[in-house]
Amino acid sequence: MKFFIDTANLADIREAQDMGILDGVTTNPSLMAKEGITGKDNVMRHYKQICDIVEGDVSAEVLGTTFDEMVREGEELAELDENIVVKVPMIKDGIKAIKYFTEKGIRTNCTLVFSAGQALLAAKAGATYVSPFVGRLDDISTDGVALIEQIVTIYRNYGYTTEVLAASVRHPMHLVQCAEIGADVMTGPLSVIKALLNHPLTDIGLAKFLEDNKKAATK
Ligand code: E4P
Repeated sequence: MKFFIDTANLADIREAQDMGILDGVTTNPSLMAKEGITGKDNVMRHYKQICDIVEGDVSAEVLGTTFDEMVREGEELAELDENIVVKVPMIKDGIKAIKYFTEKGIRTNCTLVFSAGQALLAAKAGATYVSPFVGRLDDISTDGVALIEQIVTIYRNYGYTTEVLAASVRHPMHLVQCAEIGADVMTGPLSVIKALLNHPLTDIGLAKFLEDNKKAATK
């Protein structure tokens, strides 16, 4: 399973990269705004900075909603760095743009996916990644993990190569459940990945090992 982090925060990205388990980064316009990154030049510079830190795919989202706007923006983003994946919303012109990018060899991430039918369309258009939002479905009392399972099954049935990127992962159980059912990738905050480290028996066991070693050394 690939681990992406969903952030535009450079310190978090550096920390995850330094852990040695980071496979990529996803961003969205809200995450860029949260870091105070606004204006086209600043946004482009920030994406480049992210690409310089991460050894892996970096999803950069288009802001346009028409085919022409998405193509123009996506082509500029793709030129920034070979690791850029153009993130395109799940709308009619978005599907058309994904098809266009696929034919030009530009990789894409179809975002804001909330149903299996939408995921099927993204795969047919040739998206590199499809991003169903697990947490946001759970927020409205719908089983987000069940959607991931449904999409994994459908893609396997037909051999689609689009990778299932479980997005909006909010806690370690989401991550583990998505891994159990075969999601190719997860993305969420760094805190979710770091939460995988925690187990009280690990802490108790380590403290005991160190204490026993200390006792033996002073005998
Ligand atoms: C996916 O690429 C999105 O950026 C993201 O995972 C959304 O997560 P949220 O629902 O926690 O905002």
